[in-house]
This record gives sequence, C-alpha cells and structure tokens, in this order.
Amino acid sequence: MSAKIIDGKAIAEKIKKEIALEVAAMIDADVKAPHLAAILVGNDPASETYVASKEKACHAVGITSTTYRLPASTTEQELLDMIDFVNNDDEIDGFIVQLPLPEHIDPNKVIERIDPVKDVDGFHPKNIGRMQIGMPSYLPATPFGIVELLKRSGINMDGKHCVVIGRSNIVGTPLSILLSRKSDYGNATVTLCHSRTKDIASYTKQADVLIAAIGQPEFVKANMIKPGAVVVDVGIHRIDDAEALKGYRLVGDVDFKGVSEIASAITPVPGGVGPMTIVSLLHNTLQASKKSIYQ
Ligand code: GUN
Repeated sequence: MSAKIIDGKAIAEKIKKEIALEVAAMIDADVKAPHLAAILVGNDPASETYVASKEKACHAVGITSTTYRLPASTTEQELLDMIDFVNNDDEIDGFIVQLPLPEHIDPNKVIERIDPVKDVDGFHPKNIGRMQIGMPSYLPATPFGIVELLKRSGINMDGKHCVVIGRSNIVGTPLSILLSRKSDYGNATVTLCHSRTKDIASYTKQADVLIAAIGQPEFVKANMIKPGAVVVDVGIHRIDDAEALKGYRLVGDVDFKGVSEIASAITPVPGGVGPMTIVSLLHNTLQASKKSIYQ
C-alpha cells in the first residue's frame, strides 16, 4: 500500500486565497488592512527563517507586517517594555514574540505580558484557558493548522483514537485539548505520549491518527504504525546529505519512506504541516483586525 499524500501546501494556498479576498474586500470598503507584528530577539537561524516566511505570507495576502529585531543582549525588562509599546499601538492588530528567547529571558513572563486581545499565537494563559473551555479564542497556529488540514482533507476525527507524541506548550498539549473537545474537528479519543512514556510503540500501534511532534528526526518507523493509519508529521530537521544539491535535506519526525508503505494518508516534510501553521497565523491576524474573538 502507498499512502495518499496530504498536500498541506496546496490546502494552505487555497486558504491564503480566501484570506486575500477578505482583505481585498476590507481595503475596498476603506477599512485598514490587518497588521501583524513580530518581535525577534537575537539571531536564531530557525527563528529568522520562520519570521521571513511570515513576512512573505503577509505580503502575499495584503496583511501589513512589521518585524522588530532586538539584539540577543536585550534585557527581560527591555523586551517587556517593547511588548507594552506594541500592546498600546492601535495600528497593530496582533503580534507574536518569536520563540525560543535567549536563556536570560523568562518566556512565561513575556507571554503573560502580551495583551490577550492581540495574542495571535494563542499562547497567553487567557487564550489557552478559553480554548480549554470552548470559548472563542485565538488557537495556537500549529494545532489549528493541523485540525484544519485534517478537516479539509476529509478526515473526520469523531470517535477516532488519536495518539499525539510530544507534550510541548506550542503543539502537543494544545492539540490534545483541541482534538478531544466536543467540536466539528474534535471528538477524538486522545492519548498524549512523551519522553517519559514507556514502550511508545505499544500506543502508536493503536492510533487511527498519529501525530508526531517529538522533535527527533525520523523517530516514527513503519513498525510503529497500524496499517491504514493517518500520519501527521510536525517535525522539520536539516540532515546533512552530500548528494543533495544544497548539502542537506529536510526530514520530519517520521520515516516518510517506510511509514508511507503502511499508512493510508501522510503529511510530507516539507509541504505538510509547515505551510498550514503560517496560514493559521494569517487567519488569527484577520480575526484580530475584525475583533471577532474579543468584541
Ligand atoms: N517558535 C516555533 N514555533 C513558534 C510559534 O508558533 N510562535 C512563536 N511565537 N514562536 C515559535
């Protein structure tokens, strides 16, 4: 069997067109275009890439974007002051503080300082809490991108056993909440596995839908999968490869070649979850400019 490829890039492009149409209609009606800001502290190469992709995606749909670049030596107080400034800037509808932050800055203190109304990452405890009890909230971009990807691929989660590997605050934990909630993309039975789980394969083999967000290259192998399972790969890693044009290739948390022989559907890396994460942020920014979460 060879799995169907879930084309995140194509689905993301379709959503981008929907957002671009809405933004164009706002501009036609003389309403200000949505405005997303990003604060980037230091020069982590992966963060630089993410922020550049976000800027490019904003421009493609007509969303205004501003990036504030601060040196790695920025103090926690200076960053908090910057957040206060952006919180109070009426021109900016929503913003993110790119993670990870330098070691000397407490990320929780930073996240708590963001005005929940502008927290388009959905990381503030108020948005996480609202999500948990089913109130309108900004949904974190990667979990939201994954549920949207499954929904638009016709994969119904109702009553399915979904195994999530990885319990990060950004992906695994919020995703496990979203998938188990009573909603049109939820109603799954969720098992959350992590680094302390004993015999992970005994759980993954039971998954109708397996979501790998563990952060280890090609961790999930073919013998860990139930035949016909749907596999979603959240990881992205650069692996040195002398034969590749650029000297490296990108792989996910899943051994794509082996697993695609057993699964019924699988997301590729790149071109699966990644593009969906970015459009989720665009979606949240549009929501912020329309004040649709917090009236
Ligand atoms: N770093 C990795 N993913 C994310 C994300 O979704 N938002 C922010 N702010 N930082 C990240």
